[in-house]
Amino acid sequence: AAYQTLIVETPEAAPGVTLIRLNRPEALNALNTALLAELGQALAAAQADDAIGCIVITGSAKAFAAGADIKEMSDKSYAQMFKDDFFAAGARAIEGTRKPIIAAVSGYALGGGCELAMMCDFILAADTAKFGQPEINLGVAPGIGGTQRLTRLVGKSKAMDMILTGRMMGAEEAERAGLVSRIFPADTLVDEALAVAARIAAQSPLATAMNKELVNAAYETTLSTGVALERRLFHSLFAFDDQKEGMAAFVEKRKPAFKGS
Ligand code: HXC
Repeated sequence: AAYQTLIVETPEAAPGVTLIRLNRPEALNALNTALLAELGQALAAAQADDAIGCIVITGSAKAFAAGADIKEMSDKSYAQMFKDDFFAAGARAIEGTRKPIIAAVSGYALGGGCELAMMCDFILAADTAKFGQPEINLGVAPGIGGTQRLTRLVGKSKAMDMILTGRMMGAEEAERAGLVSRIFPADTLVDEALAVAARIAAQSPLATAMNKELVNAAYETTLSTGVALERRLFHSLFAFDDQKEGMAAFVEKRKPAFKGS
């Protein structure tokens, strides 16, 4: 598909990986309706392609995404926002993707950009990354999960600080706080993210999907329910050829060749 607001590739250096670059340089990759619709299409295409095992979403060196598009939003009425269920479809497209999605963040990840990164399964950051929820400066609030996900990721004190002041947080603070899993030098970030994604894509896609589902369940369930679900899914993984292959390969001291069956 030809996209207007994205560049979508399957880089040769990273087998099994779809790389999605947000590409609205004139607006620091601000998220508008067109971009979110295309992101939904690109994610659906990657989800449907058996050759793809992991997705990386990135932006430019200067900005992952500087938020929802303020110019598109500014004149909307409450009735329009409510009728369009503003950005709910975009959020659902990300949440509905069963394959892992890595956010590779350089530069600004603000407002909806920070929220998009947090909707991904984990965040790899460049040392130049700057995260923030500056909606308070516009007289509004985060609208695609920022108040909820940031609080779960970094705790109430830092989430309140970030959201009530609108200040930005650098990569090191974000890593210390648990928002980011790893930091890389800016010029190697995308290559490093592709290497991480290729490693994920080489695993059993069945086990990967179940592992993703289980970690996400930790947010939605009690500990005992989550542990019970984990035990059930762990047992069920023994129904797949990939479990036999993975364990046989260990015993035979060779690399496993997973088939997704
Ligand atoms: C629309 C944006 C934009 C945005 C930047 N631009 N952010 N356009 N929406 N969110 C545009 C600018 O208007 C400008 O266009 C061009 O991108 C370059 O930006 P500059 O401001 O000139 O760059 P710089 O001085 O380097 O400052 C970078 C910045 C700043 C600190 C990131 O752009 C900024 O504060 N942006 C807004 C961040 C923000 O408030 N995000 C939250 C949005 S609300 P021109 O045409 O002038 O060159 C939100 C709600 C989510 O996200 C909930 C949704 C449901």
